Amino acid sequence: MHVLGIDIGGSGIKAAPVDTAQGTLLAERVKVETPRPARPEAIADAVGSLVATFGWTGPAGIAFPGVVIGGTTMTAANLDPAWVGLDARELFNKAARQPVSLINDADAAGLAEMRFGAGAGHQGTVLMLTFGTGIGSALFRAGTLVPNTEFGHIEIHGHDAETRASERAKELHDLSWDKWAGRVGEYLHHMEALTAPDLFIIGGGISRKADRFVPLLDGLRARVVPATLHNNAGIVGAALAAIKPGASLGSS
Ligand code: BGC
Repeated sequence: MHVLGIDIGGSGIKAAPVDTAQGTLLAERVKVETPRPARPEAIADAVGSLVATFGWTGPAGIAFPGVVIGGTTMTAANLDPAWVGLDARELFNKAARQPVSLINDADAAGLAEMRFGAGAGHQGTVLMLTFGTGIGSALFRAGTLVPNTEFGHIEIHGHDAETRASERAKELHDLSWDKWAGRVGEYLHHMEALTAPDLFIIGGGISRKADRFVPLLDGLRARVVPATLHNNAGIVGAALAAIKPGASLGSS
């Protein structure tokens, strides 16, 4: 099946048509900057223009960087507060001129990695963490997603983890790989103590540079592997969720 996947991030909105049987992009992805302020109407307009760019009339799925329950966005840590409690699915339906599905961005990336990437076939407890503007999380047991976990917001040393260990934090505070890996390692130790995963999948654009920091993450019981779909995982997962809403309980 061919589905348009759209991934809304804190800095960019990316879209591409996806072959959901193969987990591959059918055309080069198109990226636009996330409008600032990241208000609902502005983002919906950007989504509408991406749909138009591809001349898309088939099924479409959107990955959103916040908690999504039944089409309503409940949080939006790195967007505008106007998203909180909004019927975002309705807004996107209008902008796209057709029904779309909506899922948390890390959950989408996790679905894609579990199906086609680093977690394929894994039956244990898998925790996917995406490092970008924020930190996103997707928890799986025996391949089933527990939707809307928000482990990027656990507190470490009195601070939201994502403000210390996201990719943005690395850039903002000009952290060396060593120093940043130290923070990521500390964060993974917390997450291991809380969720006892067998496997961590490290995602987000920075997963392309996994060799710079994954070898520095030691002392964990769980295996740590980089994502294999990198920045495309959100697009592919958004498309998967659009045809398999059951895979993302409460987020379809
Ligand atoms: C949000 C999550 C999201 C993550 C990555 C966090 O700030 O709360 O819902 O998955 O950023 O975008």
